[in-house]
Amino acid sequence: MDIPLISHGEQVIFPEFAAQDIGEISIRPAKVGDVHGMSALINHYASNNVMLARGPQYLFQHLQDYIVATAKPKKPGKLKEYVVGCAALNVLWADLAEVRSLAVHPSCQHSGLGAKIVGQLIDRCRTLEIPRVFCFTLVDKFFASCGFVPFSRELLPAIVWAECSKCPKFYHCDEISMLYEVLKK
Ligand SMILES: CC(C)(COP(=O)(O)OP(=O)(O)OC[C@H]1O[C@@H](n2cnc3c(N)ncnc32)[C@H](O)[C@@H]1OP(=O)(O)O)[C@@H](O)C(=O)NCCC(=O)NCCS
Repeated sequence: MDIPLISHGEQVIFPEFAAQDIGEISIRPAKVGDVHGMSALINHYASNNVMLARGPQYLFQHLQDYIVATAKPKKPGKLKEYVVGCAALNVLWADLAEVRSLAVHPSCQHSGLGAKIVGQLIDRCRTLEIPRVFCFTLVDKFFASCGFVPFSRELLPAIVWAECSKCPKFYHCDEISMLYEVLKK
């Protein structure tokens, strides 16, 4: 089994780069080889308390929920491809899904990538005929720009609280609940 590269010091899986150092960004379903890069990206933000941490075990077990944005570095290095964005669509019930783990690398922000990733998850809901998708977020302005609107979390079914109860913020949640009506748009 490969040891996660992050523990080796010589290999960086949360790469430092500027936007001009990478080629074209593409979005695709996540693969096992993306997991350490996804974990590094998500945990970069989790360490600043803006999203929930996700370790490799969780990511492998939920891999089929995830999409990733990747790009090749222009100068060859140890990493052939960088994970520059990711997000998951977690289907909770016949009429409800949740956007989770949305992250875009700091060097790729404000160029529309986050909106594109969310757009692909909404399209996935449409394909699956799931009428509503929600998120808990601190970046309500970003999700509002994607068409989400604030709503009362008390309207969510009990199944949602099973995941919430694992969260360190459970007793003092500062996140805003936002909803997108997939089939109305
Ligand atoms: C939130 C995040 C995914 C947005 O990604 P992005 O690629 O920069 O977003 P886009 O370029 O598609 O943004 C579209 C619009 O959303 C709004 N927006 C984007 N990021 C925002 C932020 N952090 N705060 C407020 N509004 C934001 C802006 O109106 C933006 O348009 P503009 O760049 O022309 O001003 C990214 O900032 C990120 O990874 N943040 C840290 C992790 C995080 O908070 N994830 C959300 C967990 S629910």
